[in-house]
Amino acid sequence: MESYLSMKNISKTFGVTGLKANDNVTLDVRRGEIHALVGENGAGKTTLMNILYGIMQPDSGTISLNGKELKILNPIAANKAGIGMVHQHSRLVNEFTVAQNVVLGAEPKKAAIFFDNRKAEAEVAAVIEKNRFHISPEMKISEISVGQMQQVEIIKMLYRKAELLILDEPTSILTEQEIQRLFDTLRELIKRGKTVILITHKLSEVKDISDRITVMRKGRIVSVKDTADVDEREISKMMVGKSVIFDFAKGEEGCRETVLSLEKVSIRKKRQGHPILDNISFNASSCEIVGITGVAGNGLTELEDVIAGLQKISSGSIYHNDEDITNISPKALRERGLAYVPTDRLKRGSSLDTSVKENLILTSHHDFMKRCGVFDDNKISEHSRRLISEYKIDGHSDVPIGTLSGGNIQKVILARELDNVKDFVLFSEPTWGLDVASSEFIYEKMLEMRARGVAVVLISSNIDEILTLADTIFVMYRGRLVAGRASGPDLTREVIGEYMLGLKDDFRGEE
Ligand SMILES: Nc1ncnc2c1ncn2[C@@H]1O[C@H](COP(=O)(O)OP(=O)(O)OP(=O)(O)O)[C@@H](O)[C@H]1O
Ligand SMILES: [Mg+2]
Repeated sequence: MESYLSMKNISKTFGVTGLKANDNVTLDVRRGEIHALVGENGAGKTTLMNILYGIMQPDSGTISLNGKELKILNPIAANKAGIGMVHQHSRLVNEFTVAQNVVLGAEPKKAAIFFDNRKAEAEVAAVIEKNRFHISPEMKISEISVGQMQQVEIIKMLYRKAELLILDEPTSILTEQEIQRLFDTLRELIKRGKTVILITHKLSEVKDISDRITVMRKGRIVSVKDTADVDEREISKMMVGKSVIFDFAKGEEGCRETVLSLEKVSIRKKRQGHPILDNISFNASSCEIVGITGVAGNGLTELEDVIAGLQKISSGSIYHNDEDITNISPKALRERGLAYVPTDRLKRGSSLDTSVKENLILTSHHDFMKRCGVFDDNKISEHSRRLISEYKIDGHSDVPIGTLSGGNIQKVILARELDNVKDFVLFSEPTWGLDVASSEFIYEKMLEMRARGVAVVLISSNIDEILTLADTIFVMYRGRLVAGRASGPDLTREVIGEYMLGLKDDFRGEE
């Protein structure tokens, strides 16, 4: 079959480190296919796509579309050539409406100068209708779900008449249902003659939706296959160079003492029928990993916010070592030694434009001031050197954290949080967007915490992650805990699934 997009012998080296992010990469995409681009964190996938989208220029190599060689100097040129991209980390403006975000950079102008809001909304509404999205153009980004944000990103590409759509890890923060909806949309677009390049770490998705697969490892292409010819295990092997199976021992029960406890914690909102959190009670003890799972939308996010002190509760109490800490500030929680690895690591856990070094001291910068009130640069450098090596962070301490690969960004946050841990740590969706090797690293750190006697709470919608790690497993459904059991052979994936869907409930009727 004739090739539609051909990237030939692309190389890209990054200055500070001299790292070859792309090393003589050749990518071939056919018109009308969904082409999966896979590889471990840091393999060079985003770099390759940034080059295709004109965000960066390659050191060498060529790009042709429809047999014609192109110089793509910037994203506007890419748009003109019919290429659209959804970035790994959302760049939508929260305060703007859906329509304003969609037209941003390509705004319809009134009398050639003034932004024409009405026209923008009408045009965007037309794209939404044609593609049967469920979203209205006048809503603010801050009011919509992550699944809908993803739709906005796609609408943005379609508004610019993209023929080749690049999606860089669009599913890592979506729920199961949102992923299915996204895939339906992609299949629909393919029917209309579009072409998709999809980056994802979830191999089941690769199997499910792609026609062909290109595998990258350490900046190079290691394999190109028809999806039908390989299974998940084979893909994983090509990515990592070996197949990875997690099997960890459970924690000892001997040393357990309650560190954190929630008693009948509820959040009620006016005009909301049922409480958002409904009578949640559980203890997290030293030497224990408490796993809390559920389908997104059933209270996991709210529970995360409550434990992190970011959301006040309406009733109930929270204790830390028997002291009442109900509704104290996040700052006060930090001072008590709470470590927190948040779901939304880019908004909450770091700031993209600041350096790795600064991010490493974000929550403890007072420790790095000299008496006179200025920063002690030597101490900061020493600190970041130590953490970068201890956590095997692949990145220089002076570069903006936003330039690191997803796996390395998470390691920076992990290093910062775990370096200060006292007796309690909260992880929420810690491996979203991470590959197997990075996930394994995070799991090992979690186990290390447990072995040191720390109480670990793991909130995760990934059942396998919960089963692998947790000593005690709780399941949430509609804001309530519906199961709380020690992990064991009878607590299988299927059983947890039944609790997650509300088919089973151990506590109904109890108060
Ligand atoms: N602007 C930059 N400056 C310096 N180094 C960079 C820059 N962008 C990427 N890198 C480095 O290039 C390598 C490849 O990164 P890239 O983001 O392309 O990986 P990836 O395959 O997309 O990984 P992930 O799955 O984690 O997103 C990484 O080691 C990364 O730290
Ligand atoms: Mg990437």
